[in-house]
Amino acid sequence: MFNTPFLLRMGLYAAISIVGMNTAAAQPLAVDNLTQIISKDSAVSKTVSWQSSAPHYNYYVEYRQKGTNDIHKAYVTEPKRPPVYDYDNIPPYTYGAYMQHLQPDTAYEYRICNDEGETGWFSFTTTKEELNQYKVLIFGDSQSVDYSVWGQTAQIAWNRNQDAAFFVNMGDLTDNGQAWFQWRDWQYNADILTSHLPFAPVLGNHEAYSMEWKFAYPYTYKALFAVPYGSPQGQSRLAYSFDYGDVHYVSLNTDYEELHTQDPDMLTNEAAWLDTDLAAAKKAGKRLIVMMHRPPWNSPYNGKLDINGTYFMPIFDKYEVPLVFTAHEHCYERTVPIKADKQAAAGTVYVATGRSGTESWDASRRKPTDVVYYNPMDMPMYLTLQVEPKAFRVTAFKNDGTMIDTTTIATDTAPSKKQAEQQPQHAKKAKKAGQSVKK
Ligand SMILES: [Fe+2]
Repeated sequence: MFNTPFLLRMGLYAAISIVGMNTAAAQPLAVDNLTQIISKDSAVSKTVSWQSSAPHYNYYVEYRQKGTNDIHKAYVTEPKRPPVYDYDNIPPYTYGAYMQHLQPDTAYEYRICNDEGETGWFSFTTTKEELNQYKVLIFGDSQSVDYSVWGQTAQIAWNRNQDAAFFVNMGDLTDNGQAWFQWRDWQYNADILTSHLPFAPVLGNHEAYSMEWKFAYPYTYKALFAVPYGSPQGQSRLAYSFDYGDVHYVSLNTDYEELHTQDPDMLTNEAAWLDTDLAAAKKAGKRLIVMMHRPPWNSPYNGKLDINGTYFMPIFDKYEVPLVFTAHEHCYERTVPIKADKQAAAGTVYVATGRSGTESWDASRRKPTDVVYYNPMDMPMYLTLQVEPKAFRVTAFKNDGTMIDTTTIATDTAPSKKQAEQQPQHAKKAKKAGQSVKK
């Protein structure tokens, strides 16, 4: 029953396409698995993706402000398909269309076209530039032996949170990143979410596993998710960042263990990118949230930072990132604020996000800095992030509705973009007048 929307959606495309036909000669165009992917800045851009079993090089996407005929064309990627690892389960080709230079808080519509015809018009509205209040759905590892369990978590979370703005999956979406049958089941069961919400993925270590549990480059993950451009050097689509309202999110790549032989400079490049990325976001007056699959400590916890923590935690400290989501250990944890790996008032709260699929793990450890530790051995779970004007409110729920934890993390009152731009001018004026400027 959880999969009905996918089937409905396929039929709906055809129906909408017929309504959207402009001429008698045009053919209705149906596309598979139309999905919204989080874009660089939801106030001014929009990304969608779709799939086909055979490659097509003539797709184009038209978009316009609703009620106008001023049509623009989106940038559409080449069809991307990972290598075929299993001839019984061949992955489709995936396309991404990037609509850019949009106006904030404005209604748009787009359609997908090729030589055979076009779909109907699909509507969306860009976010307000200064948006500072909305909800996000967050799911820990969805890897499963039966992905209908992930589908149940997705359905339950959607039923209770239809006001969500987008959703995040914290990595280890599937068990074996090379296994298309697992991705197919993941997609099929994620449909209730991808039918309605943009998706922000995070790369997990299982995305970099072959069917034989060997390290393998995550081609399938990369082919599937047309996340924003602007990744660290050599890590296109593996790490990225985006803005949603006045919050800047970073999705990190913590797969050094799996990828270091191919990219020995991965963490050096990524840390340099993160430093620059967070500096720019802070300067633009954004509040910060980081999402990383592996936690910054060894797993299971033994009191020491792992290599990701060694590289990234000093940067979280430098920019006073208030909130970092982690995954990988399949437990829920919330720490005290931490700076330099010790409790500190202006530190970072780390929240581990449990599991949304079938796989529980009984070897995680409660850390001395944990305020709350809960291992969801009995059933899957999910989280909500409520962005408020002066705080992030994080709440964790078991699938049966029981609340595991809720907390409110105060954030700096983010200066508006205009205020941030004005600050240097004030400082300049004061300096000119020979006054001291408080830092
Ligand atoms: Fe993991």
